[in-house]
Amino acid sequence: MANSQSATSSPPAQSWQADRYARHAHFVPALGQPVLDLLEPRAGERILDLGCGDGVLTEKIAAAGAAVVGVDAAADMIAAAQKRGLDARVVDGARLGFKGEFDAVFSNAALHWMKDDPDAVIAGVARALKPGGRFAGEMGGHGCVAAITVALIAVLERHGAGGESAVPWYFPTADDYRARLARGGFSVEYIELIPRPTPLPTDMAGWLDTFAEPFLRRLPAEERANARDEVVAMLRPVLCDEAGRWTGDYIRLRFLARLAR
Ligand code: BEZ
Repeated sequence: MANSQSATSSPPAQSWQADRYARHAHFVPALGQPVLDLLEPRAGERILDLGCGDGVLTEKIAAAGAAVVGVDAAADMIAAAQKRGLDARVVDGARLGFKGEFDAVFSNAALHWMKDDPDAVIAGVARALKPGGRFAGEMGGHGCVAAITVALIAVLERHGAGGESAVPWYFPTADDYRARLARGGFSVEYIELIPRPTPLPTDMAGWLDTFAEPFLRRLPAEERANARDEVVAMLRPVLCDEAGRWTGDYIRLRFLARLAR
């Protein structure tokens, strides 16, 4: 969630509300166990959770005995993480200021929001790590939420509000991200694109309200609800089953990299 968008040329930024996130998106940290397993947090380690959101996974890392710092660009999510008693700070993911103090950096479901300059994010992670430190992460990968994205672009175009430039996410291929990590000084031990159709806890309207604000905010306020309903109608034949259960067409990119120096 550490979203670095601020320039006027960027899509409108996503706003984060901890209560809405908990209602419509609690599956995001709940499905974070595989990347936690990749991190293997150990007692006594110092770990940075980049894009920690409301701190659900940060808390699990702390429970392993590590000293964790959580950072996120969204003040409302950081407030929720602080309520859990965590050391959580509002920080822009593309401007990490830590210097050689962490054994590992962890990130779940946040790096795809840092679209403007992924290399600056990786450089900040490298700076934050001790020599030989590890970077364990999971983000949306190439093709993630493809049907949802196409429907959003189509509806925006129908409303004369542009389309593709509204996409706020960076969903790299494994080759792209491996090359960026290598250029950033990392040796990549594992990287894989993993299709993960994801049952939604509520419905597509809830998902769009939670995650698709950068698209819908391109429209005048009075058009947004209709536009959202058009997206829902477009997606129903492919992402909703006969019982009314919605599935998100998620693809994850999971990786473990080690700072080479
Ligand atoms: C994801 O976690 O992959 C994701 C989250 C929000 C929008 C798109 C993808």
